[in-house]
Amino acid sequence: MLDNIQQIKKIDSQNMFSVLEKFPEHCEDAIKRTESLILPERFRGPEKIVVLGMGGSAIGGDLFRNWLYDKAEIPVIVSREYILPKFVDKETLVFAISYSGNTEETLSGFLYAVKKSCMIISITSNGRLQDFSRQLGVPTVEIPSGMAPRAAISYLFIPLLIIFEKLGVISNAREEIIDAIELLKRIREEIRLSTPTEENIAKKSAMEIKGTVPLVYGQRYLESVAKRMKCQFNENSKSLSGYDFFPELNHNETVGWEGPEIFTKMFSVILLRDPDEPPELKNRIDITIKLILEKKAKKVHQLTARGSTKLAKMLSLLYIGDFLSVYLAILYGVDPTPVKIITRLKKELEKKIDIVSSIEKEIRELAKK
Ligand code: F6R
Repeated sequence: MLDNIQQIKKIDSQNMFSVLEKFPEHCEDAIKRTESLILPERFRGPEKIVVLGMGGSAIGGDLFRNWLYDKAEIPVIVSREYILPKFVDKETLVFAISYSGNTEETLSGFLYAVKKSCMIISITSNGRLQDFSRQLGVPTVEIPSGMAPRAAISYLFIPLLIIFEKLGVISNAREEIIDAIELLKRIREEIRLSTPTEENIAKKSAMEIKGTVPLVYGQRYLESVAKRMKCQFNENSKSLSGYDFFPELNHNETVGWEGPEIFTKMFSVILLRDPDEPPELKNRIDITIKLILEKKAKKVHQLTARGSTKLAKMLSLLYIGDFLSVYLAILYGVDPTPVKIITRLKKELEKKIDIVSSIEKEIRELAKK
């Protein structure tokens, strides 16, 4: 089934595969678009960072937070909320990210950041966020429109790294990105649609986990990649899914596996491994597999990160996971791109309470001042 390209193209009517295949080039384009961004001098030296967004536009913030963990001396949080945390102030740099530019939670958080005189940088392809940013002179990374937000992850994540380098908070980000892109190009050859199942780890993995609810287990900085994979199973494969991460999951989720097999056998586990795991962590993961997962889960599947840098490792697994989720969609006979229920939900919400219009009025007033 996964090698029948004609039939797959019929199911993938909006070309998710071809967007995925352009991921490395989109990363290159994201670097270029961000490098030309002009930032005010006062943006240098922020004390705190908030990444504001929802769903596919927020996950880049989680990747960024995990990547920065041992690199930057300032705290980074991701806010998926209508309001920002109480601590935000004029020393806080806020990245307002919405692919469509019309997500009400993000626009509401944006207004909050404006009122608190935060330093704001927007990343968007369109919509009100673009419009508000223009009215208020907020520096904006303008990214191409026409993709599913989650498929634009390159444009929603890479700019954060480049901006941090531009602001002097970190160094060598560009080098690390370029190195990761080279690896992604090599991985693409292995997992793309035209590579047959026997040689294609993403296709093989999709066949393995078909018919189960996948739980993705990350570890440390791969927590965000596990979350990304879970969301891709939700939105691309139209499947329930969950995620957790080591070592934390040994203190709670692990106990859930003691439950009756009638439940546990509905799940498969995908473990995200790092070849350079510290020994105490490797030990923990190996023992968890032996002690309980192998016995109680329907399938235990391991995916190993590639590359020598943290970023390469994160993006290699993310890329395999993205393809895997789309192959799973094909195995289920569903079009990976549309997310009808999200679209419908947004419309229904808007009919009842039109938050965006009131935000729009306030922004207009603020822009006049
Ligand atoms: C759709 C998707 C969603 C959106 C989310 C927020 O592909 O991934 O999770 O990202 O509904 O919308 P945007 O990204 O337009 O702010």
